[in-house]
Amino acid sequence: MAESVEKARRRLPTLLTEIARADRLYYKENAPEISDFEYDCLQAEVKAIYKKFPQLEQAMKVGSDLRNGAVSVPHLSPMLSLSNTYSKEELFEFDRRTREACNGGCAYLLEPKVDGMAISLIYENGRWVRALTRGDGRAGEDVTAAVQTIADIPHVLSYAQEFSNESSVSNEAKPSHASIPSITEVRGEIYVTREDFEALNAEQERLGQPLFSNTRNLASGSVKLLDVEEVKRRRLRFVAHGIGKIDGDFSTQEAVRRWLKANGFPSFPTIDIAETAEEAWAFIEAFHAKEHPFPFVTDGVVLKVNDRRQQLQLGATAKFPHWAIAYKFEPESVETQVTGVTFQVGRTGAITPVAELTPVELCGSRISRATLHNFNEIDRLGLQIGDWVVLQKAGEVIPAIVRVNTARRNGTCPIVPPTACPACGAKLIRLEGEAILRCPSIACSAQTRLKIIHFASKEALDIGGMGAKLVDFLVHNGWVRTVADVFQLWRFRERWIATEGFGETAVDGILTAIERAKTQPLWRWIYGLSLPNVGLEAAKRLAETFQTMEALQTASAEALQSVPLIGERTAQGIAAFFKNETNRAVLEQLRKAECFDQMPA
Ligand code: IVH
Repeated sequence: MAESVEKARRRLPTLLTEIARADRLYYKENAPEISDFEYDCLQAEVKAIYKKFPQLEQAMKVGSDLRNGAVSVPHLSPMLSLSNTYSKEELFEFDRRTREACNGGCAYLLEPKVDGMAISLIYENGRWVRALTRGDGRAGEDVTAAVQTIADIPHVLSYAQEFSNESSVSNEAKPSHASIPSITEVRGEIYVTREDFEALNAEQERLGQPLFSNTRNLASGSVKLLDVEEVKRRRLRFVAHGIGKIDGDFSTQEAVRRWLKANGFPSFPTIDIAETAEEAWAFIEAFHAKEHPFPFVTDGVVLKVNDRRQQLQLGATAKFPHWAIAYKFEPESVETQVTGVTFQVGRTGAITPVAELTPVELCGSRISRATLHNFNEIDRLGLQIGDWVVLQKAGEVIPAIVRVNTARRNGTCPIVPPTACPACGAKLIRLEGEAILRCPSIACSAQTRLKIIHFASKEALDIGGMGAKLVDFLVHNGWVRTVADVFQLWRFRERWIATEGFGETAVDGILTAIERAKTQPLWRWIYGLSLPNVGLEAAKRLAETFQTMEALQTASAEALQSVPLIGERTAQGIAAFFKNETNRAVLEQLRKAECFDQMPA
């Protein structure tokens, strides 16, 4: 903490820039580089400076999660966040303030803090009509189409249906109004279970696509996808923890919870009340120590003043209610030494540096490697081989290096980016402004396997039966080296049938599926070719714009950039892909095999 105003004045711009960068990476690019804990520490430092030197205060920037061009819809009541703390003293200080404002008597409802993405569900006359992100708290982005993929969400409020004929919902849990609520905002979190997260990452790995860093990013990234089929694949879930606008009100937060449950919303299983700060603290300690049964990842405990009149009396700032606080658990961390850095080649040729570590135990698992993502990350950490590093689990799931302990540095050596592909030796390229080094060759052996698996996958050409195991067999036999070779497999039919484990029916089934793939639409071919940074949605936009593979192949970087979802870097990457001699030869072979003649208009 800066002791003098001059020091604070110098420190503030750095802090605010780091916060703005973290907000951008988190909200806009879904690629955070610092942990929640580090982010919270930055925010806490700014807050402490403003408290000590109020003259330096300026409006703190709130991260907005609104994408360019997305539809923004006002919330009917502000969508607040929670102030949070990692300190027992601050928690007790919150209790003291709250109790004082409530003239001594208040109780808290305690619940898990879900590591998900905040969402508001709007019901009109008891029917679900819309889902909004928090946005800036006053208006959020309409993400109804994506949220509709979640089976957990009731489409009709059963309470509203049953209200007129005296429902089975207990009186206590009824808001004090006498008609079907015309507007109800239900607030909660969208999340992905730990099991689904692991299964999806295994699938990403199989397809050679980048791994999701934690469950929260996966949830927030998925909600903003336009491709509903892809959202379904992400297996999102919902848990309700409150309400926004509703006709009438409830007497307690506990009654809100019961009302949510009675209406079929997934909520928290137990109702835990603390009458004092000591009771709340005992609950927090017990909660942290035990393995809990929730399907979601949690990162703390939320305390909410139970009495709704007291909540109103306590009020809120523009961002946080004064009647609630989140106590967050500091992530477990451990120090270990980086023994080396290896370079992995991904499906699109991206080279990922991976830190090799002296094995350590963290949150019950043995960790010996951690991804460094890209070379900017190495620069940001200031990492060298031989360094001692602090390792944490990002969102409790994937181990990440959060910082270097330079105090322990002794005889380290710098990490030198490779110039040639570690698998095929091709000269690596770095697209302008990109932190990623890439192997440009479509025939690179490390990429081949991953590219062909991706090409044949359900999301691309959908060649039934051609999964990782079969691709390994075909690559091992030298029958396929590029995606074009898939359409020449008929030449090996006799030898293939004679191979143990295969027979005529199996082989002919696969060859038929390969023939059928020729009738797939253009966007599947574009997606299947593994163009750098081109996902499903971008592939669809490219197909809509260019209509034929030939038109896409000959498009200039400027023309590519005018396509929705295609930025300058991606446009350059696509143009470079089609300029590469090997890639052109592969496309020519596909053309000769009549792959682009039978697709639907
Ligand atoms: S209540 C007015 N309860 O954590 C109170 N929020 O870091 C608003 N969160 O913005 C929120 N678990 O998105 C509440 N049990 C819980 C929660 C919870 C997770 C999220 C919520 C909030 C964020 C703050």
